[in-house]
Amino acid sequence: MQIFLDSSDTTQIRDLAATGLVDGITTNPSLIAKAGRPMLEVIAEICGIVEGPISAEVVAKDAKTMLAEGRKLAGIAPNVVVKLPLTRDGLTACAELAREGINVNVTLCFSAVQALLAAKAGAAYISPFIGRLDDHGADGVGLIADIRAIYDNYGYDTEILAASIRNAEHVKGSALAGADCATIPPEVFSTLFKHPLTDKGLDQFLSDWAKTGQSIL
Ligand code: G3P
Repeated sequence: MQIFLDSSDTTQIRDLAATGLVDGITTNPSLIAKAGRPMLEVIAEICGIVEGPISAEVVAKDAKTMLAEGRKLAGIAPNVVVKLPLTRDGLTACAELAREGINVNVTLCFSAVQALLAAKAGAAYISPFIGRLDDHGADGVGLIADIRAIYDNYGYDTEILAASIRNAEHVKGSALAGADCATIPPEVFSTLFKHPLTDKGLDQFLSDWAKTGQSIL
């Protein structure tokens, strides 16, 4: 499964990309607002840090303006993926951008039939929001499994990008359900490395090693 960071914080992105485990980045208007910097500048900087797909979201609600914004965002760097909301206008714009060869990430997906329409519109990625669905009393990971089954039924190559991830269980559930990618907030990504038995085991190994008086280097 590809791991994306859900962030517009270039300091955090640079730090975590150094692990070699980050395949791409997703942003949204709220994350750009949080960065407190001009959007085009932030996206360009992120594209210089991570080689993989970098999602940049339009803010228009009508297809015509979405197309203009999308083309402008796609012009920032070859690895920009234009993020469009799952609305009728968003999917209309998606179909056109896909025809032009621009990769689109359709976001704010909360149902399997929405995901089916996004695949028909030629989306490169579909972003089901699993945390927000759970908040709503629904089954976020279950939606990933449903979309996987539907896409496999028809051979759609739209990649399932699990979004709105709140914890390690969401990452595990998305992987088990067959998501192609998960976009993870930096704070959650940092927790994925951790297990108390890893720390305990390492302490024991290193304390036994210290008693030998040896050094490898
Ligand atoms: O980028 C979209 C998505 O990951 C948002 O997550 O936590 O605001 O529901 P959240």
